[in-house]
Amino acid sequence: MALTSPTMTVMTAAVRKASRKLSRDFGEVENLQVSKKGPADFVTAADLAAEKVLREELERARPGYSFLLEEGGVIKGTDATHRWIIDPLDGTTNFMHAIPHFAISVALERNGVIVAGVVYNPVTNELYTAERGRGAYINDRRLRVSSRTNLTECLFATGLPFHGKAHHESTLSEVGAVMTMAAGVRRFGAASLDLAYVAAGRFDGYWERDLAPWDIAAGILLVREAGGMVSDFVGRDNSLKSGEILATNGVVHDRFRTLLAGGR
Ligand code: IPD
Ligand code: CA
Ligand code: CA
Repeated sequence: MALTSPTMTVMTAAVRKASRKLSRDFGEVENLQVSKKGPADFVTAADLAAEKVLREELERARPGYSFLLEEGGVIKGTDATHRWIIDPLDGTTNFMHAIPHFAISVALERNGVIVAGVVYNPVTNELYTAERGRGAYINDRRLRVSSRTNLTECLFATGLPFHGKAHHESTLSEVGAVMTMAAGVRRFGAASLDLAYVAAGRFDGYWERDLAPWDIAAGILLVREAGGMVSDFVGRDNSLKSGEILATNGVVHDRFRTLLAGGR
């Protein structure tokens, strides 16, 4: 059985409503893709529109909660103990290029601790949910990280920095170290889904740096509630602040961390 707490019901309803808008806009992007104008402006509008729906729905259901929104920034509510952390469209570059791999990510933080998370890919209709202490789910099915122990059998995911970002060299060295030891390395382009895939046992591990809290807040809870481990590159529980994340099935965590460090 999926999670059915009042909080989760509120979150999934808001996410599904915002996703209807995103799906319509994605259909439009697929058309714009072949037009001269290109989809860039349109996608910016899609981000904003989805975020507006999420904000309105969550505010209506939980008046006074604070927000950390990718597009709208910090909004202080009357209730400082609760905060929604939201990425209305994670995987913007995929979306803009008509690649059906993107998601909405919503997390709820209570007194500085992430207590609930939802990641939803409207194209595949995969709804990932987690609540602290209550497990992680994909739609109605309980999630469990993989049990692979040999690095050579593991599939890892990462995020590659692009134009205007730092750490190109160190990322390349890390990829170099991992690809010689693992079954494969993937770069799919949506951090929230990379984490959801670790929780689902599809990826055995994932690493990336320079991420924002809205990219990873919900996904971190998904991985932990599915039995996995999340840390920064030196093993601390600090990813939301540092933007540096290493998420694995737990079994390979330390060996994978050492492998990455050796590549740098
Ligand atoms: C991006 C995606 C991508 C990651 C980038 C993020 P956005 O988020 O999660 O996978 O590599 O660093 O900024 O911009 O598509 O919401
Ligand atoms: Ca993002
Ligand atoms: Ca985004």
